[in-house]
Amino acid sequence: MTDALADHPPTEPQGTRDVYYATTPIFYVNAAPHIGHAYTTILVDIVTRFHRLKGDDTFFLTGTDEHGEKVAKAATAAGVSSQDYVDEISGEFRRTWDAMGISYDEFIRTTEARHQQVVQEVLQRVYDAGDIFYGEYSGLYCVGAERFVTEKELQDGRCPDSEDPPEYRTEANYFFRMEKYRPWLREHILRHPDFIRPERYRNEVLAMLREPIGDLSISRPRSRVPWGIPLPWDDEHVTYVWFDALLNYWSALVSRGVEGRYWPAVNHFIAKDIVKPHGVFWPTMLKAAGLPVYQHLNVHGYWLMDARKMSKSLGNVVRPLDLQEKYGRDAFRYFLLRDMSFGLDANFTEPAIAERINADLANDLGNLLNRTLGMLGKYRDGIVPAFGPLEAADEELRDAFLALPDQMVARFDALQFDRAIEDVMNVVRSANKYIADQAPWLLAKDPDRSARLDTVLRTCLEALRCASVLFESVMPDKCRDLRVQLGLGEGSVTLDDARRWDVIPAGTRASAGEPLFPRIDLEALAREIEAPQGEPLEHKPEIALGDFAKVEFRVGTVTHAEPHPKADKLLVLTVSFGAETRTVVSGIREHYESDELVGKRVVVVANLKPVKLRGVLSQGMILAAEDAQGRLAVVTLDREMPDGSEVR
Ligand code: MSP
Repeated sequence: MTDALADHPPTEPQGTRDVYYATTPIFYVNAAPHIGHAYTTILVDIVTRFHRLKGDDTFFLTGTDEHGEKVAKAATAAGVSSQDYVDEISGEFRRTWDAMGISYDEFIRTTEARHQQVVQEVLQRVYDAGDIFYGEYSGLYCVGAERFVTEKELQDGRCPDSEDPPEYRTEANYFFRMEKYRPWLREHILRHPDFIRPERYRNEVLAMLREPIGDLSISRPRSRVPWGIPLPWDDEHVTYVWFDALLNYWSALVSRGVEGRYWPAVNHFIAKDIVKPHGVFWPTMLKAAGLPVYQHLNVHGYWLMDARKMSKSLGNVVRPLDLQEKYGRDAFRYFLLRDMSFGLDANFTEPAIAERINADLANDLGNLLNRTLGMLGKYRDGIVPAFGPLEAADEELRDAFLALPDQMVARFDALQFDRAIEDVMNVVRSANKYIADQAPWLLAKDPDRSARLDTVLRTCLEALRCASVLFESVMPDKCRDLRVQLGLGEGSVTLDDARRWDVIPAGTRASAGEPLFPRIDLEALAREIEAPQGEPLEHKPEIALGDFAKVEFRVGTVTHAEPHPKADKLLVLTVSFGAETRTVVSGIREHYESDELVGKRVVVVANLKPVKLRGVLSQGMILAAEDAQGRLAVVTLDREMPDGSEVR
């Protein structure tokens, strides 16, 4: 066996380019790809394309996680061998990403020999260093999340990651001395504030590290779980699936001989379900193996369907390819990036996709293109004119565009992808306003103002060209088509192209093609989705007006919100009524993140007798609507009203 760690001594990064290595989780092959998997993969695709556009030396890794009990069980249920089963579903992931134009550099499968070899080498290293021992363990195991869970972590008796009930197990396993590295990891996280981001997940990991984390059981008896990588020193045991899976991020580089070039400049992207393995197991494993720890763990929230996480077991999955077909690949990517604020959950609905496409792409960007090319055709036979003298309005729009590349880099670095898009869109909207202000149709009527008309048309054309470069990583096909319509051809671009104005050669022929973003018929969509019939309303007994008048409702603003220290479902809100401030404990934690509520104007039942809820005194109740699926929406006001106003 070759020692891959020694075979590939670190080489220096290429030239002076920044290195950007990004990863998705490797997905379990127990289910076909859904929107949740597609989101992380599309996000990493966009981010790596953006870094490529910027000139960085990038590497994009994705793949499939094929060992473990969960996969073995799924194969048995499907009545096929584990190998046939994983080949099939891994192929489906790969085909889906290919059909979606995902520009991964490597697709790793944990059943590949190149991966298994590296896993065994790392295990041997850690074993030789004395950080692995044999022992017995009893505890609660969750097959869905493939890990032991502690009593404290349970939520209503279920695993916090998979929402499945765990089972009690006693087993003789090999253990990794993870606890030994806890002080080091805590220190590392404290010293590197951007190691795990956004901050809420950093805090989550720091909270886990406040108490002993125990040692990690890293093997399973082969007699019970034959589907795994044998331990190099004892083939009666196979490697625990997380110890195997996490190493993909390293083995993929090693097998290509590029670990010196890309490690540890890695950005891992995951959702919040797998923070513990990535935030606790993985860095301690790297440390024990003598490898530098990764640079960033970037954690996003969930896409929710009807307020529940999308998952196979809940049967609410949406196939990404269906949506791509219906709305177009690029528009769908745009929606995913624009409608999720990184770190927070977002709601997934088809009307939301359609509305976003209509508002931003068909209206704002599409209109700018149609109007510009329409006028160019009408007034200049489709030939791009040269700039005449610039006026303040032209310079203002130019400067707004030329500031965007740096702003976008900063937004991407800060994981504010939705804001990055919004920044560009705001300037696109100013370009539409510029057209309205300059009224080229009036200029066209006045032969003395011909040079001015040239400048206005040319400004709009350059604006569109810059927008096409800025959106290149989000909508690669549409941006290329846009440039083709501008007469620029299909050549590649770099972010620097958006740092220059006056690029399109005068005399170029531009001509409108197919509309880039056709408008979606929202009414037809609503008919298609079909409004649910619903059950007849169940009314409570009638009350007299006087009974109702006994209840005092007041308007207040949430000034602070935090999770209840002892109850998973409760948030503790501070609500200001102007002259008075109260604490209100509310059972909406499953529906709202704390920071989503801060600043919201709510309606509170103000004369409710105060009650202590799990030790915190609640002085009132906020109003929220609830539907048949248990989704909640907090009641707010539709215009400004001072805090403390009574609601009658
Ligand atoms: N195999 C492990 C990961 C090992 S990485 C070394 C695993 N696989 S998984 O198939 O369950 O994928 C989990 C990941 O899929 C999430 O972390 C996230 O990237 C993505 N998502 C799955 N459902 C999702 C949502 N509903 N919303 C957003 N992302 C989701 O865990």
